[in-house]
Amino acid sequence: MREIKVPVTRIEGHGLITIVLGRDRKVSRARFHVTEGRGFERFCQGRTLWEMPGITARICGICPVSHLLCSAKAGDAILAVRPPHPADKLRRLMNLGQFVESHALSFFHLSSPDLILGWDSDPKARNVFGLAAAHPQLALDGIRLRAYGQEIISALGEKRVHPAWAVPGGVRAPLTPAARDRLAAKLPEAMRIAQDALSLYEDTMGNWADEVATFGNFPSLFMSLVGEEGAWEHYEGRIRFVDAERRIVADGLDPARYPEYIGEAVEGWSYLKFPYFQRDGYPDGLYRVGPLARLNCCDRIGTRRADEALGRFRSIAGGKAVTSSFHYHYARLIEIVAALERVEAYLDDPEILSPRVRAEAGVNELEGVGVHEAPRGTLFHHYWVNEDGILERVNLIVSTGHNNLAMNRTVAQIAHHYLDGAKVTEGLLNRLEGGIRAYDPCLSCSVHAAGRMPLRVVLVGPDGEVLDEKVRDA
Ligand code: MG
Ligand code: NI
Repeated sequence: MREIKVPVTRIEGHGLITIVLGRDRKVSRARFHVTEGRGFERFCQGRTLWEMPGITARICGICPVSHLLCSAKAGDAILAVRPPHPADKLRRLMNLGQFVESHALSFFHLSSPDLILGWDSDPKARNVFGLAAAHPQLALDGIRLRAYGQEIISALGEKRVHPAWAVPGGVRAPLTPAARDRLAAKLPEAMRIAQDALSLYEDTMGNWADEVATFGNFPSLFMSLVGEEGAWEHYEGRIRFVDAERRIVADGLDPARYPEYIGEAVEGWSYLKFPYFQRDGYPDGLYRVGPLARLNCCDRIGTRRADEALGRFRSIAGGKAVTSSFHYHYARLIEIVAALERVEAYLDDPEILSPRVRAEAGVNELEGVGVHEAPRGTLFHHYWVNEDGILERVNLIVSTGHNNLAMNRTVAQIAHHYLDGAKVTEGLLNRLEGGIRAYDPCLSCSVHAAGRMPLRVVLVGPDGEVLDEKVRDA
């Protein structure tokens, strides 16, 4: 067997792609490996429930807010309390800040060099610096939009990097009137940037028909939380699965009972597990999560501008599910608009200044599940505690894990389409990276590895000999 391995850069964490050629010199197998694990689940054993939001926020320096909020929600379940309404709104506001921050980083900093400068442009300039030289306004807009998301987070959590602000039962502090006014003043500019980026994407996506057709374009299931009456939801709600026709396959599922419908398979060649929809078995139960899945699953978003954009998004697939992972980018931009519209509504709500933000209670349940939609997709924190609230067991399922099967299938599709001969060409390398990057995976939190690392792509022949290898530095 021959194998080509491609590392993936401009994603968070590091990865390895191996492409194995058969005797006929065609791709016989392609895999996206996640090659490092830190055992965070085991590391949490022996900690107290109340420490967990702060500790789990350190699982990943890239998505601390996601883990913070999900951990606090698992804590709510163990205390058996419902946080006061102001706390609920403030946590939602912080999550929306993380959506803006994370999606802006993904689109402007990590992906727009490919989308704007082109997949075959000079790799030395096809990065955020090249983008700044060619399109200074776009680069500046990206920085400002991301900063706005960060400002929402820091206005609530104070410390931007590891805000241990959400706690079981609620949050530590409300928003101050001054912070609210500051955020409200900057909102129009953030909205202008988000809408410009959305228009830019809609105007240029026609240039990438080949990539749209091959970057993970296949029928699959999609999973997300949905809210009341099927509305787009990022914080609560019930689990829905839809298929490629956008038919509802399962609906109203209790997220706390995920082990009844999600299985987690293990493969020897990756540290990251492979979740699947149990009804369809492994690996047929492949499903995708994240922006693309949320837009495919929901019936509507519930705010004006985002619903207009959702209508245009739906029209590219004739009302069925949008099945190309390339359009994660499109969905992400629509979600920035949706998030900003919701931020606007919360900033107008006087309840976010209320000091009633925390329900105090002791351990009332020995098991609790926290679930919400992180920017990258559905996140599960499942804790088992003793009577003193000491963690005895932890299971996490992160967004990148849910997408593991789909990312592998995407890599195989791109390798089949773009591999020519026994070389990892620049065009192939770019597209393998781009195909993975569409999911905006966070390898840092999926394997709990520290730091950003490069992607390696290795091409291996039918007898196991390495034919070619390329590494892209982070
Ligand atoms: Mg796990
Ligand atoms: Ni992460």
